[in-house]
Amino acid sequence: MIKKILVPVDGSEYSDKALDEAVDLATKYSAELHLVHVVPIATALITGPEALAIDVSRQLETSGERILKTALERVEKAGLKAVTRLEHGQPADRLIQLVKDESFDLVVIGSRGLGAIARFFLGSVSDKVSHHATCSVLIAR
Ligand SMILES: Nc1ncnc2c1ncn2[C@@H]1O[C@H](COP(=O)(O)OP(=O)(O)OP(=O)(O)O)[C@@H](O)[C@H]1O
Ligand SMILES: [Mg+2]
Repeated sequence: MIKKILVPVDGSEYSDKALDEAVDLATKYSAELHLVHVVPIATALITGPEALAIDVSRQLETSGERILKTALERVEKAGLKAVTRLEHGQPADRLIQLVKDESFDLVVIGSRGLGAIARFFLGSVSDKVSHHATCSVLIAR
């Protein structure tokens, strides 16, 4: 039974596609939708000048909130509700941990994201999540 669906969103057209598929499934199964954006913690931010690091992470946080708001509007337009939350960390690791801690039944994730180099079929986040998540993963293409 699919009761709780995790949709990682990054504002890309791929994550929109994943969201649309998740909305379909949530409707069909009367499942809860949880939209999560992970604000990445880059090594350069940790080791760089402190003032710059704070400024960049604030920008990432603001953009993450905007991504979540837009995603929520997309869900609401389809007549559903969703829980939104902003997380911090390495995106794939944080998502894998969330699945473990909060007993999600399904992750619906985009095959690619905002990364400019489309060398591979999968981005690094969808690759790692699909390999290591402890629940089923649907990769939207
Ligand atoms: N920071 C994030 N927070 C939440 N979900 C994310 C985040 N980054 C990516 N995702 C999810 O993972 C999917 C695949 O994105 P991914 O980042 O793996 O590909 P990419 O950006 O093309 O490649 P890469 O980031 O490795 O250069 C996205 O469609 C989205 O669903
Ligand atoms: Mg990416």
